[in-house]
Amino acid sequence: MKKITIAIDGFSSCGKSTMAKDLAREVGYIYIDSGAMYRAVTLYSIENGIFDGDVIDTERLKKEIKDIHISFRLNKETGRPDTYLNGVNVENKIRSMEVSSKVSPISTLDFVREAMVAQQQAMGNEKGIVMDGRDIGTTVFPDAELKIFVTATPEIRAQRRYDELKAKGQEASFDEILENVKQRDYIDQNREVSPLRKAEDALLLDNTDLSIEEQKKWLFEQFNKVSK
Ligand code: DC
Repeated sequence: MKKITIAIDGFSSCGKSTMAKDLAREVGYIYIDSGAMYRAVTLYSIENGIFDGDVIDTERLKKEIKDIHISFRLNKETGRPDTYLNGVNVENKIRSMEVSSKVSPISTLDFVREAMVAQQQAMGNEKGIVMDGRDIGTTVFPDAELKIFVTATPEIRAQRRYDELKAKGQEASFDEILENVKQRDYIDQNREVSPLRKAEDALLLDNTDLSIEEQKKWLFEQFNKVSK
C-alpha cells in the first residue's frame, strides 16, 4: 500500500474531523485539523488584545504571527490530538462559542492564511497525512490523491455542535449556534482568499442522513480504492 495525502474539506460542523481522525488512527496516518490552527490564532488575538470582536489590529497580528506556534500532541485519554498554542494546551478554549464566533474574520486575512498554509504544507511533505479544513484540496494539497468534500444541512450541523457542547457541560443555545453556522458558511464561501469550494476532482459526501458508521464505511472504501 502506498502512502497518500488525504484532503477532507467542507462546511463547519459536518463531521469532517470525526471522520478524518478515525481514518488517520485506523491507517496509522498523521491527522491535522487545520481549523484548529485558525482557532488558535483567533484565541491568541483575543487573549492579547489584538481582536476585540469588532476591530482587528492587523499590523500587530502581522508582526506577531511568526511568534504564534501551533502544534498537536496526542492526548492519551481521548486517543486524539490536542492543540497547543505556544506550548499551552488550548484544545477546550479554541472550541468555545467566543472563538467560534470570532474565527471567520481572522481566517479571511491573507497573511494569516499564508502562514498557516506554509505550516500545513510542511506538515504534509512526507505524505501519510489526513488534513481537514476548507481549502485543503484546492490550495494546501492540490495534488492530494484522495479529496473529499463533505456537506450536510445547517440545521443538522447546528444540532451536532449543540450536542457536542452539551456533552462537554458547556452552555449552549441552539438558535445561537444555528446562526453562527449560517454566518460562517456565508463568510467561508464568500471570502476573497481561498473561499470554500469543492475541488473539481473531490468526491462529494452529503452526510445529512448518514450515521457515523455508514460514513466511516464509505470513507474506508474510498481510501482502499486509492491507496492500493
Ligand atoms: O473547521 P472549524 O469550524 O474548526 O474551522 C474554524 C474556522 O476556520 C472556520 O470558520 C473556517 C476557518 N478555516 C479556514 O478558513 N480554512 C481551513 N482550512 C480551516 C478552517
